[in-house]
Amino acid sequence: MKICIIGTGYIGSVTGACFAEMGHHIIFVGRSRKKLDIIKSGKSPIFEPGLDELLLKNREKLETTTDIAEAVKKTNLTFICVGTPSREDGSSDLSQIEEVSHSIGKPLRSDKTHHTIVTKSTVLPGTIEEFIIPILEKESGKKAFVDFGIASNPEFLKEGTAIEDFFHTDRVVIGTNDTRTKEILEELYKPLNVPIFSTTLRTSEMIKFASNAFLATKISFANEIGNLCKELGIDSYSVFEGVGLDTRINPKFFRTGIGFGGSCFPKDVCALIAHAKSKGITPRVLNSVMAINEDQPRRMIALLKRHLNPKGRTIGVLGLAFKPDTDDIRESRAIPIIKMLIKAGARVKVYDPVAMDNFRQQFPDLDYTTSAAEVLTSDAVLIVTEWKEFESLDYHGKLVVDGRRIEKARKEARVYEGVCW
Ligand code: UGA
Repeated sequence: MKICIIGTGYIGSVTGACFAEMGHHIIFVGRSRKKLDIIKSGKSPIFEPGLDELLLKNREKLETTTDIAEAVKKTNLTFICVGTPSREDGSSDLSQIEEVSHSIGKPLRSDKTHHTIVTKSTVLPGTIEEFIIPILEKESGKKAFVDFGIASNPEFLKEGTAIEDFFHTDRVVIGTNDTRTKEILEELYKPLNVPIFSTTLRTSEMIKFASNAFLATKISFANEIGNLCKELGIDSYSVFEGVGLDTRINPKFFRTGIGFGGSCFPKDVCALIAHAKSKGITPRVLNSVMAINEDQPRRMIALLKRHLNPKGRTIGVLGLAFKPDTDDIRESRAIPIIKMLIKAGARVKVYDPVAMDNFRQQFPDLDYTTSAAEVLTSDAVLIVTEWKEFESLDYHGKLVVDGRRIEKARKEARVYEGVCW
């Protein structure tokens, strides 16, 4: 099949590369010619393990353009993979969705073939029916579900393991209101041999938010119990190992510590909160999920202060990315932690294997080191991201506050405080 992928960010580039690997011909559409040229040369525009290899291997199946109309005309299936960032009040900014909807709708007017448009971008329930379809219908002069197909097909990829997640997902969710579109997408995903859940547009849009909100809730719940465990001298990791053995509960996403960051959980939970409020509903659980998450970095600093006053001292920070295997620092817990350290008058020495360039743009004045070992020469060390290489450092004699559970530090440090254990 010939597939148009609009957006060369994280979702777009991974989705396009994986469809190419499945044998499809991909036309990537982006605004930045520079980024498109990187893709065309068989390289990844983002840091994601395995993506370079996949793009290189399938290079002859990849085309690029900055012109949406051209790509829509040459294909029968278009995936919208543009960003939906947060506005100040937590609600989603749909300006990119709006812009591409107009650009997709226009060429559909003269398109004699049947075209299917699929939204992978995370959009609130009702967005496709109330916002995207009216634009497409107006621009094309055609009727959704009759003259063109439209679907919601949320992604459940985790940064750092996105390719593995694509090919071995627990489920593919397809939301649409017409059989033809449902069949086209079921056929597309059939070779993955994974469960396919077909439902309505709105339900599919909500499944994405409910999934991310539940995972975020699981983490904040674990952290609340973990904070209590800490005071009671109990290891929350053992607690959740025991809890997770219940198949109704499952052991994943119970890693306690300094909480969740990234471009998805904070943004999606806040968007759901804002949406609920706009409908007159007070989202009590979700408000608490965010409040607990904001508190965890403060707990880390409070634990540090039990042993040392950071004023005038050098505090080392291991890890800046929001999680390992990514250079993404969006909503990273390192941000509030470093702000608090600076406010407390500390000198901050940092190291991350790949995220330092991104971090430097926001915090140009930190002491960026060239190795993790250098950070360990500080008066105290905070572990903020659980990079694999931090498992092999020598922590003997050090004062360590650990937000991510590095076993070697736990065993070796002179003074060791785990945030929830
Ligand atoms: C998340 C979801 O896991 C994906 O299913 C979803 O597709 C994606 O958002 C999205 O909406 O695009 P991602 O943000 O890439 O994926 O990374 P996660 O592995 O979920 O981690 C998110 C944050 O939660 C990280 O800061 C991580 O350190 C933290 N976390 C995760 C915990 O604190 N404890 C855990 O047990 C798990």
